[in-house]
Amino acid sequence: LSVPEITPAIRDLIRHQFPALKGDVIFLENAGGSQVPRQVADGIHSYLTGSYVQLGATYSLSQYCTELVARAHQFISLLMNSRQGEVVLGSSTTALLQMLADCYRHRLSPGDEIILAESGHEANLGPWKKLADQGAVIKWWRVDVESQSCPLVELETLLTPKTVLVALPHTSNLLGDIVDLKTVCQMAHQVSAKVVADGVAFAPHRAMDCDGWDVDWYVYSLYKVYGPHMAALYGKRDAFAELQGPNHFFVPESDTVYKFEPGGVCHEGCAGILGLNEYMAEILSLETETLLDRQSIESAYQIMAACEQPVQQKLLDYLASNPLVRIIGPAATEKSRVGTISFVHEKLGSREIVSMVDQSSVAIRYGHMYAYHLCEALGLDPEDGVVRTSLVHYNTPAEIETLIEVFDNIPRFK
Ligand SMILES: Cc1ncc(COP(=O)(O)O)c(C=O)c1O
Repeated sequence: LSVPEITPAIRDLIRHQFPALKGDVIFLENAGGSQVPRQVADGIHSYLTGSYVQLGATYSLSQYCTELVARAHQFISLLMNSRQGEVVLGSSTTALLQMLADCYRHRLSPGDEIILAESGHEANLGPWKKLADQGAVIKWWRVDVESQSCPLVELETLLTPKTVLVALPHTSNLLGDIVDLKTVCQMAHQVSAKVVADGVAFAPHRAMDCDGWDVDWYVYSLYKVYGPHMAALYGKRDAFAELQGPNHFFVPESDTVYKFEPGGVCHEGCAGILGLNEYMAEILSLETETLLDRQSIESAYQIMAACEQPVQQKLLDYLASNPLVRIIGPAATEKSRVGTISFVHEKLGSREIVSMVDQSSVAIRYGHMYAYHLCEALGLDPEDGVVRTSLVHYNTPAEIETLIEVFDNIPRFK
């Protein structure tokens, strides 16, 4: 499959799939949560109205639902490229990482070291920080204020044979950078440490590749990637094997997925997940009743990234041209970034700016974005934080033009 040139017709086709985009709101708070295509909403609706029964019984409707939930897992495994491991679904990234950290509680010995990237979202910091009461030694991988990133040379100095885990964001939900995850994994594996990467801010923009990165744990929120309010945790088989899953005693350890899904998953959400397969097929103009193959998934992501890139550049160029604005995250000229764009203003507070934007049809956000430690490291007041505009593939140049007009009309913005 070759990736077509991004024409207005492709943008129209994409937008046409999202019922919410027909309204007046301009959604530029997608890092908070994305909209869903009709295929996802329809999947949930038809499940609830046509096959809302429990799994695992012998009657045929129950068997149909059991298979549907298994297929949803299979599809997310494809999305994450996870042949070396298993994918567990849950209600949120926060909940899945909390469960994972609870499982590590039994596996750690006093003195074991955990390295935490200061740039992380609290979901991938808080649960690990709490393990200090178990005797774990928490070592911070500090943000370099100049480059606004956690430097790899710094990580090198922190890794020791006692390191058990390195927790980091693949992309910061405030900075919008893309970390070289493969290299982080290679470095950690040299001391037999495992890497737990938060892919929440990466997954809406680029194809995940857990096998390729050789990452041990990878987690993302489906509701930010055009899906229902759920999340997925990938783990390598050997990483799961070291832990005891929290589900009931009679669920065998060999049933890894169910062992780590206590109480099961949202079944109608799984039907929605399968709608995402249909959506991707639609934008690739493929007729498919089956799950997409890996190459098609990558092509769908290439289309999404190609849609997003010029739109994000337009906003970055505009912000970079205003001397009162400081972009927090990779510079406007940096190609390796996603459309999650944060900034602060020399004369106006973030809250002040967003309260003015709230009077228009544009939805954006201000604050610390739960990257509290990062804000502190960068010398920002976490309560006022940054103004964040986060776009994805369905946003258009025209929407950015409207936002620019709104910014231009804020007194003292320029
Ligand atoms: C980078 C990042 N990690 C983790 C989370 C937490 O995700 P969830 O809401 O699924 O718990 C978020 C949510 O905004 C996020 O942006």
